[in-house]
Amino acid sequence: MKQDMTSIKNLPPLRKVLIVGGGGRENALAWAIAKFEKIEKVFVAPGNAGTESNNSCKCLDIEESDSKGIKQACQSLNVDLVVIGGEKPLSLGLADQLREDGLAVFGPGKNGAQLEASKNWAKELMYEASIPTAKYWLANSKEEASELLKKIGTPLVVKADGLASGKGVSVCNSIEDTQASINEVFSGKFGKAGEKIILEECLQGPEVSIFAISDGENLIILPTAQDHKRLLDGDKGPNTGGMGAYAPAKIVDAEKLQQIKKTILLPTLEILKKKNINYRGVIYAGLMLTKQGPKVIEYNCRFGDPECQALMPLMGAELAQVIQAAALGALEKAPQLKISQSISACVVASTSGYPENPKKGDVISITQNKKKDLPIQLFHSGTKLNSEGNLVTSGGRVLSVVAQGDNYKDAFKLVYETLKGINFNGIYYRNDIGYQVRN
Ligand code: AMP
Ligand code: GLY
Repeated sequence: MKQDMTSIKNLPPLRKVLIVGGGGRENALAWAIAKFEKIEKVFVAPGNAGTESNNSCKCLDIEESDSKGIKQACQSLNVDLVVIGGEKPLSLGLADQLREDGLAVFGPGKNGAQLEASKNWAKELMYEASIPTAKYWLANSKEEASELLKKIGTPLVVKADGLASGKGVSVCNSIEDTQASINEVFSGKFGKAGEKIILEECLQGPEVSIFAISDGENLIILPTAQDHKRLLDGDKGPNTGGMGAYAPAKIVDAEKLQQIKKTILLPTLEILKKKNINYRGVIYAGLMLTKQGPKVIEYNCRFGDPECQALMPLMGAELAQVIQAAALGALEKAPQLKISQSISACVVASTSGYPENPKKGDVISITQNKKKDLPIQLFHSGTKLNSEGNLVTSGGRVLSVVAQGDNYKDAFKLVYETLKGINFNGIYYRNDIGYQVRN
């Protein structure tokens, strides 16, 4: 399929889609895209044991790091659209490589993916465009960072510059803690990602995730979502990829969303354009709502996981065409995206030992709720079928249970009831996801 739409009136056919990735986010994306009536097949490379529970979806035995394999599959399967789920392949330039073959790709190229792949790059961009964010300092060595800390004289947030699977950030409460975190990043623990660090002032306030679909010129803003990054109830314990989410986030009303669009999302798109970056994919802004207004904590260059699992059930079947249009740089040719007014809630079940040492290989049993037509989805993340054909755990985050309701309480009630029917050795989930809105 041609990627340039300037001379084409309508969107081209959309029958076959390839999604790159194997987590809960990709499982949810495949499910949502397969809802579009013209879809014949959604291939997921590599997918997981949940992928093929949808008849329209098929796993491909290709890892997301295997760019050559993915390129070949796109050609031999004649796919109309590629959706790249995660930041790793995006930051390595998979989208650029596929676009070279003339494919329609949803996901930024290597240049745009720097929004997430280099915290320093993203900070410079925000400063240049006057986008509100925490004050920061860059350091290239332990000595430089320690010197800066001495001069600043307050506890700071310490961030490895590069991708560290959500583990490269420490919010420190004391100078000693800050120094220890600086030492840790420069110990080599994060490899190349930790060769530079960002020190940031510590902001206060509730956090919220904002998602916009960009075609390089225009944006469509999706419902806001609330992630829960810490492992334990009460937002305690270590940071994880995310233990649960809900959408929309009550804390952002229509007026605040307009403010966020004006002060953060549109300036982000404008500065990307100014840098000649044709950004076709998701701009995910992690915000802190401070007393001085919303500020960017971080950008990601893809959907959040598990926010995506909560968001997808709210989207109409035309989402597939909206994503296709964004990939083609032609959002104006997409149908109007219908978004349900329901509340969507998601809780992640993980293995014991997650996030440090997830235990794998335990058999999973799932008892489905017998009542038909309940608005419940079960998205798989770290699951696979073992040699005996049993469903077993194969990663830290195992399943996302998602449900919708007219209000937060009902949606979460359905999620937690459904979780009672799921079991594996060492299953763990937070019991307080949505505590902000449930009562
Ligand atoms: P990040 O990976 O950049 O999203 O950071 C992980 C978490 O660290 C965020 O979700 C925040 O809870 C926290 N964090 C990051 N930067 C700051 C900051 N400047 N002030 C306060 N908390 C922060
Ligand atoms: N849930 C946070 C993330 O996907 O980065």
